Amino acid sequence: MEFTTDQIMAVLESILEPQSKSNLLQLKMVRDLKLDQQQLFFNVHLPSANYAHRAELFEAIHLAFQEKLPELNINAHFVTKQASSEAPNTVVPQIKNFVAVASGKGGVGKSTVSANLALRLHALGFKVGVLDTDLYGPSMPTIFGIKSHRPAIRQVQGKNYLIPIDVKGIPVISLGNIIEPEQAVVLRGPRLAAIIKQFFQDTVWPDLDYLVIDLPPGTGDIQLTLVQTIPVTAVVLVTTPQEVAVADAIKAANMFMLDQIAVPIVGVVENMAFFVPDDAPEKKYFIFGKGGGQRLADFTKSKLLGQVPIYESIRARADHEISLFDEDASTELFTEIARQVVERVELRNKTMNPTKIVQMA
Ligand SMILES: Nc1ncnc2c1ncn2[C@@H]1O[C@H](COP(=O)(O)OP(=O)(O)OP(=O)(O)O)[C@@H](O)[C@H]1O
Ligand SMILES: [Mg+2]
Repeated sequence: MEFTTDQIMAVLESILEPQSKSNLLQLKMVRDLKLDQQQLFFNVHLPSANYAHRAELFEAIHLAFQEKLPELNINAHFVTKQASSEAPNTVVPQIKNFVAVASGKGGVGKSTVSANLALRLHALGFKVGVLDTDLYGPSMPTIFGIKSHRPAIRQVQGKNYLIPIDVKGIPVISLGNIIEPEQAVVLRGPRLAAIIKQFFQDTVWPDLDYLVIDLPPGTGDIQLTLVQTIPVTAVVLVTTPQEVAVADAIKAANMFMLDQIAVPIVGVVENMAFFVPDDAPEKKYFIFGKGGGQRLADFTKSKLLGQVPIYESIRARADHEISLFDEDASTELFTEIARQVVERVELRNKTMNPTKIVQMA
């Protein structure tokens, strides 16, 4: 029998810490959760070394799992490491969550998903910003209709800082607004890395619940620099249903799943899932095949967050033939995807340690 994270969370949520009577997830006591078929491993962070309810809690955990998921073997390890020993986000502490949107193949819709995810998070009331790290082919200036805009520069104690461009309350930074595209193609390794670092260290970001980070395709210098610069909270993978897109996405997923990198993948968006013609809305054409999104979600032990069809309006909104802020047939779908991203990121923050900035020799 296969177990899902949701089933496990439900059990953990039912277990009360004897002293406070709050559940283990609320108290963020469960960390480093790992599910391997029938085996569940996790650490339980105790408030102090001489915590009085250790035995009681141990029993409560085992009883709850025995009752609700009897076939699962529980390996709960009690530790007294304090939360304060975890790596804090010191680079840009005003940003709570960094959500990177990644894929293996190009052109599958990362930038489209990033922009729509940000718009829907904003509509749900979250403080959200967008960072375009696709330095070779930045899309955000076009999608947000700000091609001719330049970020303001502010001098603080003799040093220059970038101010993100405000798009109706969403701060956006893209290299496309800083240098001409012809100049970008000559950028190489160390310069690229320096620019990515500037986007955090030399940029005045406001307080944000989510910074949505649009990545270039694949697993190159930009992805590596990013995980060496900030603690990326979570990755959302984008794929089309097609086998070649999934195969490439698995390679990208493998990079984030490496022990040294360890950025949790919170879900998969299957984009261009099918086509519905305007003149025959009852028909669905599966142009790129079927099932790729689910396969990728299974491989990464995450969740299929949604299947976005090919809609002319999605393309037209990106090209500004209609307003990006206008609702269309995809609004509800992207709202649901945004809600699930919030839910899964919150769950990730409750059950796993903050991501560590990758240190490379
Ligand atoms: N669901 C959709 N319906 C219609 N058009 C779409 C959809 N998703 C993406 N597109 C269009 O497909 C093209 C590629 O999408 P997008 O630029 O988002 O992909 P990408 O993965 O960011 O590409 P790159 O790898 O070049 O960064 C764009 O022109 C976009 O407007
Ligand atoms: Mg893109």
